[in-house]
Amino acid sequence: MIESRDDLYGASSPEALAQEVAENYREFVNPPLARVMKISGSPIEVRARGCTIWDSTGKAYLDFAGGYGVFTLGHSHPRVVAAVKSQLDLMALSGKTMFNVLLGRASRRLAELTPGDLRISFWCNSGTEAIEGAIKLARAATGRAKIVSTHDAFHGKTLGALSISGRETFREPFRPLLGDVERVAFGDASALDGMLDDAAAFVVEPVQGEGGVNVPPEGYLAAVREACDRSGALFIADEVQTGLGRCGYRFGCDRDGVVPDVMTLAKGLSGGVIPVGAFIARPDVWNRAYRKAPLLHTSTFGGNELACAAALAAMDVLEEDGLVANARARGEQLLTGARAVAAEFPNVVASVRGLGLLVGVELTNEGYGGSIIPEMLKAGVTAAWTLNQQRVIRLEPPLVVTGDEVGQALRALRAGVATAYQNLGVL
Ligand SMILES: Cc1ncc(COP(=O)(O)O)c(C=O)c1O
Repeated sequence: MIESRDDLYGASSPEALAQEVAENYREFVNPPLARVMKISGSPIEVRARGCTIWDSTGKAYLDFAGGYGVFTLGHSHPRVVAAVKSQLDLMALSGKTMFNVLLGRASRRLAELTPGDLRISFWCNSGTEAIEGAIKLARAATGRAKIVSTHDAFHGKTLGALSISGRETFREPFRPLLGDVERVAFGDASALDGMLDDAAAFVVEPVQGEGGVNVPPEGYLAAVREACDRSGALFIADEVQTGLGRCGYRFGCDRDGVVPDVMTLAKGLSGGVIPVGAFIARPDVWNRAYRKAPLLHTSTFGGNELACAAALAAMDVLEEDGLVANARARGEQLLTGARAVAAEFPNVVASVRGLGLLVGVELTNEGYGGSIIPEMLKAGVTAAWTLNQQRVIRLEPPLVVTGDEVGQALRALRAGVATAYQNLGVL
């Protein structure tokens, strides 16, 4: 609970803090976003532990938006926080000119956890940077330029990642983007026929997160693997959102038992404590690209000691606390419960789909979302739209979530849907 003035960042009252935040957002952060957040009654987050965020008035919320998938271990996991704190006293960022113990250890550990012979890691600070690095690696390794991705994909918002993402609204103002990009239907391996022969890579999410939580049929990624093998295009699995337990598998690719040539990671890689991203590649791919030029792709902050300390601790917690299994069990509970809500309100909820703790609730009309999400917030549960599909509400809690917490979120979802139906009728 909030108990002292310090908890309010020095403001005299929750009201004064609210006024200050609103003004700063309006004047210095993002004026139109400030208006939207004000209209939707966004609280002010001040503290978080596990699955719970407390706002400036002391109200608790179960975090089922989950930082869009960042908080795999919940907020501020004590083991990760302790590792970061003790590293902070020793050395925070890499000096870059010397060997860095933790970068070596984190890369080794990642190679142990990822499937097959994925082995050489490049560390960066976000998901979109991991994708940029993977695209460059594929071009340098194959000598080809074309990248194939999928409709409705989301890979980030820097220019390269944006070029291969799906939503036109996000791309349109920034043209010309990367040339030589083609998009195919997601989940249908036959759509790749003839598309990869001159491609450097096919980039795909094992489950499309921001595209509206689209789960491909089993066997899709295995067929992708075969298509890439036939054509010489690299298979880049974007596991920024699906990786590290989110889908009830250690990695989304494990569902089909396939090994991509390159895997991108971010979000949960530090368990939600320090911004971090990485791509990990098969050695022959990495060597083809960078054997003779080790500094072709670099990052000042990438692989810093704090991020590596956090990632090492987070990978240990994921394994030792059995969070992958918990994600699968709680994911089934969440999916079943959300489907029951859909069955009760078929005029509002069109379908519910997901894998593990990445669950999407598709509404029959986008208009319901503006009512359901604030109602859930009132009931003390956060949820959020998916970025490319505003008709889909994501439920993406930390992997440490308990059965009771899932039950509470489901009650909030039902209340939100019932209220939306009562107020808006059939849209
Ligand atoms: C699959 C996927 N790739 C890449 C990204 C971009 O990550 P970031 O926002 O850290 O740049 C996201 C973010 O949602 C994502 O879901």
